Amino acid sequence: MLSLKESIDVTFTPSEAFDYLADFTHIERWDPSVLTARQVTEGLPQVGTQFRLRLLFGGRPVPMDYRITEMAFPRQLVLQGTGASFRAEDRITLAPLGDGTRIHYEADIVFETGWGRKLAPLVAPLVRRSGRRAVQQLQQELSGGGLLPRLTLATRMLDQAILPGLIGFTRLGYRLGKHRWPLPRRALHGRTIVLTGGTSGIGRAAAFQLVRLGADLILVGRNREKTEQVGRSLRAAGGSGKVAIEVADLSLMSDTRALAKRIVNNYPAVHVLINNAGALFNHREKTVEGIENTLATDLLSPFLLTEGLRPALTTGRPARIINVSSGGMYTRGIDLDNLDSARGVYHGAEAYARAKRGLVMLTELWSEELAASGISVHAMHPGWVDTPGLQQSLTAFHQQMRAWLRTPEEGADTITWLAAAAEAGRTSGFFWRDRLPRATHVFPGTRASAQEGRTLRRQLERLSG
Ligand SMILES: NC(=O)c1ccc[n+]([C@@H]2O[C@H](COP(=O)([O-])OP(=O)(O)OC[C@H]3O[C@@H](n4cnc5c(N)ncnc54)[C@H](OP(=O)(O)O)[C@@H]3O)[C@@H](O)[C@H]2O)c1
Repeated sequence: MLSLKESIDVTFTPSEAFDYLADFTHIERWDPSVLTARQVTEGLPQVGTQFRLRLLFGGRPVPMDYRITEMAFPRQLVLQGTGASFRAEDRITLAPLGDGTRIHYEADIVFETGWGRKLAPLVAPLVRRSGRRAVQQLQQELSGGGLLPRLTLATRMLDQAILPGLIGFTRLGYRLGKHRWPLPRRALHGRTIVLTGGTSGIGRAAAFQLVRLGADLILVGRNREKTEQVGRSLRAAGGSGKVAIEVADLSLMSDTRALAKRIVNNYPAVHVLINNAGALFNHREKTVEGIENTLATDLLSPFLLTEGLRPALTTGRPARIINVSSGGMYTRGIDLDNLDSARGVYHGAEAYARAKRGLVMLTELWSEELAASGISVHAMHPGWVDTPGLQQSLTAFHQQMRAWLRTPEEGADTITWLAAAAEAGRTSGFFWRDRLPRATHVFPGTRASAQEGRTLRRQLERLSG
C-alpha cells in the first residue's frame, strides 16, 4: 500500500472548502494527473454520490470511479476510488484555523494486480511527487491564489473593440465565457437573499438558481398575485431554504422605504441584496410621487433600498450587494443636471443608459465606503436576454436579434455566481459579465470624477426624500 499525507492551510472557511471538495469534479482543476472528472449520480454531493475520472497513468488515460463513503459537514469527507488495477481511499479532514481552514489530506493507494504490486515500489516516488503537487495546487485554489478575478488588459481591449464587445452580449458571449470558475453547490445554504424583480425574466431565473443552491429567498414583486404564484413554484423547486414574498412598487419611494423597514424589522440579517428590478420606459412619465419613472425605478429605488438595508447587511457580514446594470450604460455618462430627463427630447434608451451608469457609479462609491466592512458590492451586465421586459420595451431589436439572445437562465448566471462564489466575495467594485470583471468605459466622455460621484449621492439622497 502506498500512503500520502499532506497538510495545507487555506483561506476558504471550512464550509466553503468542504463544499468545494465534496464536489469532486473540482479535482480536475487541482490534480494535474486528472484529465476529466464528472458526477455520475444526480443531486447534491452526499454519501453514495459517484464520480467518473479519467486519469493520466503511465502516459495513457485510464478510468477510475470514486464514491463518497463518509460525509460530516464541514469536518470530514471520505471517498473511495476503484480503478482497473488499483483502488484508493481519500480521507480529508478540515479544521478551522483563524478565518481559514487547515486541511489534512490522506490517500491510501492499493495496487491489486501482481504486476501492479511489483511496480509499486518503483512508481511510489512519482505518485508521491504528483500527489504533493496536486495538494499544493489545491491550496492555491482554496486560497484565491491566482484565482482572484481581476480586470485584465485583454478583457478591457476586447470590451472596447465594438464588434467583439457586442458579440459578447449575445448567447455566444455566454458560451465563450462561462465555467471559468465552478459554482459551489449548497453555497447559499443559510444565506438570506433579497431579490427584487424576481417575478419575470432574468430575476425569475435567478430566483430558481438561488433557491436550488439552498438560499433563504425574500422575493420582491409589485403584483401580489404574480409574486405569490412565483413563490409557490419556487417552494416546489426543491431547495433546502425558505421562500418568503414581499410586495412593493419600487417606482415609489414610499413603498421602497416601507419594504426596507419591513425586512430590517423581520429578518435579523441579510447576506445578499440583488437590485434586479428595472425597466426601460419609451415615454417620459412621472410616478404618483412626481418622479420620472426611469430615475425612480432604475436608480433611486435601488439606492434607497440598499441604504435602508445597510443595517441588515451589516449584521449579515460577510454580505454582498449585486446591482443589475446594463451594457447600455456604456453609451452614456451621468448627467447630474438632468437626472430626471426633464431637459431636451426624451429618449427611453438614453434615460435608461444614464440610470444604469448611475448604478455602476454607486457600486464603485459603495465599494469604497464599505471596503473595510465585510460587504462587497458588484455591478453586472446580464448580456442581451430574451425576456418579457426586452420584448416590450425594444420590440424591433427583440425581433431582429431573437436568435442571438440569451435565455433568462444564461442572463441570470453571473448574478447567481456573484451571490454564491467565494471568489466574488473577495472582490468589490467591479462591473461583471459572464463571471469576469469588465471595462466600465468604452466611449470617450462617460467618466465622472470622484467629486461628481459624491454629488450624485447627495442628489439621490435629496430626491429619494
Ligand atoms: N433583458 C435584457 O436584455 C437586459 C439587458 C441588460 C440589463 N437588463 C436588466 O435586467 C433586469 C431584469 O430585466 P428583464 O429583462 O428580466 O425584464 P423583465 O422581464 O421585465 O423583468 C423585470 C422585473 O422587474 C420588476 N419590476 C419592474 N418595475 C417594477 C416596479 N416598479 N416595482 C417592482 N418591480 C418592478 C418586474 O415585475 P413584473 O413581473 O410585475 O413586471 C419584473 O419582475 C433589469 O434591471 C434590466 O434593466 C436586462
